[in-house]
Amino acid sequence: MNHQLSDLSPEQLRAFVAGQLERSRARTVQLTDAVDTDDLVRQHSRLMSPLVWDYAHIGNQEELWLVRDVGGREPVRQDIDELYDAFMHARADRPSLPLLSPTETKSYVVEVRDKVMDVLDHVKFDGGRELVDHGFAFGMIVQHEQQHDETMLATHQLRTGSPVLDAPAPPAGRRLPAAEVFVPGGVFEMGTSIEPWALDNERPAHAVHVAPYVIDTVPVSNGDYLKFVLGGGYQDERWWSEAGWAHVQKASLVAPRFWEVADGNWMRTRFGHREPLPLDEPVLHVCFYEAEAYAKWAGKRLPTEEEWEFAARFDPATGRTRRFPWGDETPGPQHANLGQRHLRPAPVGAYPAGASPLGVEQLIGDCWEWTSSDFTPYPGFRAFPYDEYSLVFFGPDYKILRGGSFGTDEVVARSTFRNWDYPVRRQIFAGFRCARDPKPSELH
Ligand SMILES: [Fe+2]
Repeated sequence: MNHQLSDLSPEQLRAFVAGQLERSRARTVQLTDAVDTDDLVRQHSRLMSPLVWDYAHIGNQEELWLVRDVGGREPVRQDIDELYDAFMHARADRPSLPLLSPTETKSYVVEVRDKVMDVLDHVKFDGGRELVDHGFAFGMIVQHEQQHDETMLATHQLRTGSPVLDAPAPPAGRRLPAAEVFVPGGVFEMGTSIEPWALDNERPAHAVHVAPYVIDTVPVSNGDYLKFVLGGGYQDERWWSEAGWAHVQKASLVAPRFWEVADGNWMRTRFGHREPLPLDEPVLHVCFYEAEAYAKWAGKRLPTEEEWEFAARFDPATGRTRRFPWGDETPGPQHANLGQRHLRPAPVGAYPAGASPLGVEQLIGDCWEWTSSDFTPYPGFRAFPYDEYSLVFFGPDYKILRGGSFGTDEVVARSTFRNWDYPVRRQIFAGFRCARDPKPSELH
């Protein structure tokens, strides 16, 4: 997908866009049909919107961009724009708004989608509008829906009550050839100028120099993280940054979110199932500060965003930057755990076919990975198509996460994709891997 988008005829591109719209909608419907009306309008956590808000917001963004802007059509429901503007109302306040009911929401999103399919039938991709080039606006809306689906999946994880979601277990893990990979560093091309559906903050491609470093082959597992917990890591100020220590005290953190001890055994709750903590699975639901503290305890550090992308994309044999760790092909089930195919990260070592040329594994899928980097613009950044996509978030308040989780769709999980969040957030499907500076003996 994507590079190849440039090679499609307008009719092929239309069919591709239609397929992507259908796929994202099927997922939205699955996530909202899984619960009853009461659950749809309830706020499961102050961190999250009611599911019905996300649902109507998906439709409203689609209306704004595809019906009104691209299509130049009359508004469907201009009166609700303000209700579903994410900048107007904090998540905690959304339940008290006069939101559309679940029934009204469903008919609204269907009405919008019908108009969008008509717009798609008539749109000229080569009409000279940057917004429509290679179907960008459609791609942006598909990705927006898939990202809200991942947010809704996080709301499902916070919901209490009997389980409503199910999926097969991920593939088995394996013993790794080595726990760490030495990366020689060098100059590589970071970001992209050629992915037609890449968002503004991933652009433009630019040369970056990375010094030699060592990075973990796979994300940190529950078993490894448990050693930090049992070793008193949460009670020892030495491992924490000043801000991290203040937070861990204030929030009384003692372990990752959704972990607990029952009858002397460590358990975790996953979409309503309480199960023994799987030791070989990447740790999930840790905030940036916890990731940073673990890394220090382990004698390491978090990778920078540049180091993460170098490990994921650089091919030392050709000097080229790849689209994905395994090459240029679109992710398949053999490469990565994406798209809610499994409702958990896969055990470490489960995706040898997804390894990068340097031998780093599980970079894409399983869990978002915290990096040490703030969310900043690349040199030559240009806000597109609106400032509120990325520009207003740049700065030291947000940390970058890379790689996507088991809940991220393949249309989003590019190896150039940049996610960002507050360093205290734990409800997202985030884990991490460590990096370190090489020892002199490793440099020769
Ligand atoms: Fe949104």
